[in-house]
Amino acid sequence: MPTKRRVLPSLFSGLSIKLIATISAVILLVEVVVYLPSLASYRANWLDDRLRVGVVGARVLDAVPDVMALPRNLTDRLLTSAGAYAIVYRREGQSQLIELADPVTPEEVVTADMRNRDMPTLILGAFDTLFAAPGRTLRIVGPGDLDQTMVELLMPERPLREDLVRYSVQIVLVSLVLAILTALALYLLASVLLIQPVRRLTQNMLAFRRAPENASLIITPSQRRDEIGIAERELAAMETDIFSLLRQRRHLADLGLAVAKINHDLRNTLTSAQLLSDQVATLDDPNVQRLAPRLVTTLDRAIGFAQSVLDYGRETAVPPELAPVLLRGLVEEAAFDARLSGHPAIAFTNAVPGGLVLNIDAVQMGRVLLNLLKNAREALESAGAKVTDPKVTVTVEQTPLGVTIAVADNGPGLPPRARDNLFVAFEGSARSGGTGLGLAIARELTQAHGGRLSFVDPPVGTQFDLFLPASLLLKT
Ligand SMILES: Nc1ncnc2c1ncn2[C@@H]1O[C@H](COP(=O)(O)OP(=O)(O)OP(=O)(O)O)[C@@H](O)[C@H]1O
Ligand SMILES: [Mg+2]
Repeated sequence: MPTKRRVLPSLFSGLSIKLIATISAVILLVEVVVYLPSLASYRANWLDDRLRVGVVGARVLDAVPDVMALPRNLTDRLLTSAGAYAIVYRREGQSQLIELADPVTPEEVVTADMRNRDMPTLILGAFDTLFAAPGRTLRIVGPGDLDQTMVELLMPERPLREDLVRYSVQIVLVSLVLAILTALALYLLASVLLIQPVRRLTQNMLAFRRAPENASLIITPSQRRDEIGIAERELAAMETDIFSLLRQRRHLADLGLAVAKINHDLRNTLTSAQLLSDQVATLDDPNVQRLAPRLVTTLDRAIGFAQSVLDYGRETAVPPELAPVLLRGLVEEAAFDARLSGHPAIAFTNAVPGGLVLNIDAVQMGRVLLNLLKNAREALESAGAKVTDPKVTVTVEQTPLGVTIAVADNGPGLPPRARDNLFVAFEGSARSGGTGLGLAIARELTQAHGGRLSFVDPPVGTQFDLFLPASLLLKT
């Protein structure tokens, strides 16, 4: 097993810290959204309060027949208790001004018109006050207590600004405390519901991956019905599968080794028997002469079988060693080994262009071609006279994706039994004496090259397409 050590993410790079940060950020964002209107209405209330004091003052003075006759310090006290420099009360086109005995000449006057109370204006007004230069004078304008009356108050802006700053600081502090408390509560909840179970899952995966043959490491799923529960159960099932597959694979490998050993000895014993049978065949006895050829073919077949099983184990186990190979020559050699070139009855055509060079394992690809060509010859030979002008052709087609080598014959076509188990080792054979390994080996070797071996069902005969990717093409 590959054991690249992986560790669990630390607390601060893991899920938890991301969760806390996201929750806090979202809460702060929400607080900002809430803060704007609440600041605006705090200021509006503040101004309304001042206006109300102004209205009361103005009403009181209105009841007095002659304001000028009032003692100055009384009006001054009234104004100071409202925090104002001056109050103007307007009614039916007349206005009455009450101001300090020592009138203040304001430098910069800013108007807050409380008859206009839409939210954007209030918010802008609040920000204007908050970030204003000190020393401004505020002119608060608002409706009076009766119809057609209006009150105006002139006062310094500073107290309002100070109150707004105090209020903002309070809001920021409360927001922070809220954000931290909520994030903490949510984190604890998420930690119990999510992070801890996910950590348990990841920890188990890491441990199991290091020792998949240890069944005690298979996770015990909890009874949860949510996604985590499903993940746990699926992981448990997957780990159980991996565990048993591994065990099976080891047993199969052991068995394969045993079979290979037995097979090897069997082949040697059979070879000795073959030598004996060859000698027996030379005896003059007519009975022996009749039986000996059958004995010889049976032994040949048995040895062939043992040999192909040995080859199957050996050949498909090594990865291909790529080197430049002239394809035309490789096909020529394979046809020779398949006893197709110079065949008395079958016409063989090698239509591969002479300059085509592929980067392949010559032994393995030669083996693939040999299997395909041998199958074609065997099919044509067994069909005998049923096929007129038997022929086998190898052609090549090049596309931007790669090279397709087509091995085609005009024989009887694939028998149904072979079709059902095509490319399945030991299962695909539909001829007597066949091992059913040829096509299985051919496909495995092709796949190891990144290619594909597929059966094409032409109207006449059989065709196998051997596709190799363009990356293996060196020269066309
Ligand atoms: N060109 C072909 N024409 C007709 N039948 C074919 C052709 N190629 C393969 N077959 C059928 O497919 C079966 C499987 O072929 P495969 O090469 O895998 O096994 P085999 O030839 O029986 O045995 P082995 O190649 O291992 O000696 C063959 O038994 C044969 O019936
Ligand atoms: Mg074969």
